[in-house]
Amino acid sequence: MARIFSGIQPTGIAHLGNYLGAIQNWVKLQAQHECVFCLVDLHAITVAQDPAALRAQTLQNAAILIACGINPETQILFHQSAVPAHARLAWIFNCVARVGWLNRMTQFKDKAGKDREAVSTGLYVYPNLMAADIHAYHATLVPVGDDQRQHLELANDIAEKFNHDYAVSFFPRIEPLILAETARVMSLRDGTKKMSKSDPSAQSRIELTDDADTIALKIRRAKTDAEPLPDHVAALQARPEAANLVGMYAAITGQTMPAVLQQFAGAGFGPFKEKLAEALIAHIAPISKATHELLAEPVYLESILQAGARRAAAIANPIVDEAERIVGFLARA
Ligand code: AMP
Ligand code: TRP
Repeated sequence: MARIFSGIQPTGIAHLGNYLGAIQNWVKLQAQHECVFCLVDLHAITVAQDPAALRAQTLQNAAILIACGINPETQILFHQSAVPAHARLAWIFNCVARVGWLNRMTQFKDKAGKDREAVSTGLYVYPNLMAADIHAYHATLVPVGDDQRQHLELANDIAEKFNHDYAVSFFPRIEPLILAETARVMSLRDGTKKMSKSDPSAQSRIELTDDADTIALKIRRAKTDAEPLPDHVAALQARPEAANLVGMYAAITGQTMPAVLQQFAGAGFGPFKEKLAEALIAHIAPISKATHELLAEPVYLESILQAGARRAAAIANPIVDEAERIVGFLARA
């Protein structure tokens, strides 16, 4: 059975983009696969984090994942720092990946911006750690949003170079699982930017802990244009905000974009936004409520993550021990 690995950064609260682009797929996949889901706190500190907020957000996002339907009994849910195998393999991969490869990573270029000399070295080697996350479990299927595609190609390049350099076939190829329609949910304030936890404006995203009134308000205030909705998808091409809202409605109601446009062609954004808010509330409000209930029991939540970490380590430790043996390290004590 193919093993699944995926991760989410506890740098804020998981949002609708995370849900439609990744988490909803994780929930579906767990019925047929062994899944390892990781709150990647090592990745989080590649940019500055407030320690107390990081701790709180790690627990909050764990609660959100369970509220979304991840089953921590049958699947593995844990925080990355609790399993040192990730950092051990990442170091080996730092020595396999080439500087030229990392220089091509568009997420690094975006995140570093003009300040390339001042960002952490962790941000630069971030994709090597991500490759280690996956390969430490010999996972082969990785459900993510479209923004992670390039990182997964790099993870394959690293595995291939490791196998080649050491004349082994130890790390398998991995396959990205990316949902076409919702691979990229955009900001509510700017249809050309992806919805992101790190956007300074909370109005730009729907967080999975938002209540009904907050969701309704954010959708009412979402940026749009003056035209009514068109009757075919191609007409949305130069209208990123409109395209984003239509895509969201399609995803959350389980329809295609053409089917949504059939229904709303000629309508203004007033009535469309009302329907969109209604559909989002029907879906997100129960997740939000369940999250708050789970967060009332932090000791229980922590025990789930710790049990998950023990199970994760039981898989990753022997694989990383073997990788260390392959590169020539003496056995661990
Ligand atoms: P992150 O929030 O960066 O830790 O991302 C966690 C998961 O959600 C990854 O699989 C991302 O690809 C996915 N994701 C993040 N933002 C979006 C977005 N705006 N649209 C679709 N998927 C996203
Ligand atoms: N980099 C991913 C993101 O920001 C999170 C992540 C870390 C991840 N390790 C991973 C995703 C391994 C999939 C597999 O979205």
